[in-house]
Amino acid sequence: MKSRKPLVAGNWKMNGDIVTNEHLFTALRSALERASISQVEVVICPPFPYLGQAGAWLGDTGIAWGAQNVAAAPNGALTGEVSVSMLLDLGCKWAIVGHSERRTLLGESSELIGRKAELCAAAGLGVIACVGETLAEREASHTDAVLARQVDALVPALRAADPARAVVAYEPVWAIGTGRTASPEMAQEAHAFIRARMADGGVAGADAIRIVYGGSVKPANAVTLFSMPDVDGGLIGGASLVADEFLNICRAAA
Ligand code: G3P
Repeated sequence: MKSRKPLVAGNWKMNGDIVTNEHLFTALRSALERASISQVEVVICPPFPYLGQAGAWLGDTGIAWGAQNVAAAPNGALTGEVSVSMLLDLGCKWAIVGHSERRTLLGESSELIGRKAELCAAAGLGVIACVGETLAEREASHTDAVLARQVDALVPALRAADPARAVVAYEPVWAIGTGRTASPEMAQEAHAFIRARMADGGVAGADAIRIVYGGSVKPANAVTLFSMPDVDGGLIGGASLVADEFLNICRAAA
């Protein structure tokens, strides 16, 4: 029996609209009322403009909402950015940092992501920090070196954070949006490496920090993935936009 409460977060990416969001929020509320996902910590991460709607619909349900990114500074001359304090003002309990799409498309470095995670930890905003290798890095047997570098950059934040408010998401880049999921054994191997690397880095909460898997998680593969000892839930992309699929993935984590 795992001691860590499973967490499933939906990363909507740049998707959603007022009408379809309402359908998903309604489905989540009714599922929670049926207590079918109460044993799982559920987080919804819509695009920034919908955080207010999320708060209005989810505020009294116990389902948390969060952002997909935060600014790397507490405030100031950063046009277009959104700060940790602004997200807290919107009732956010979580923020994703370091998603591979921001690493590759926007050039975010592990050091920048580490700074973002530290700002979250300092302000008490839960952080879901993404790590993961590309297919070329895996095929070159560089996975451990890549994960080590990415986890090491997160260690100052993970040492400062409340372990219950810190999550590492292992998202192999080659599994994101491709329908090609890591095998449960592959995910377990990476998660165990990440947990050991945190412990080696002096993160006292290494055993309590949840490590979730992301990359083509679907209802059909969620149960076996989440059954692995160091897989503590999922960070879900495409399937989080479909109410029944997302709810079934949450149920698989229970
Ligand atoms: O952050 C989660 C995302 O990268 C996974 O996307 O569509 O493969 O579930 P998807």
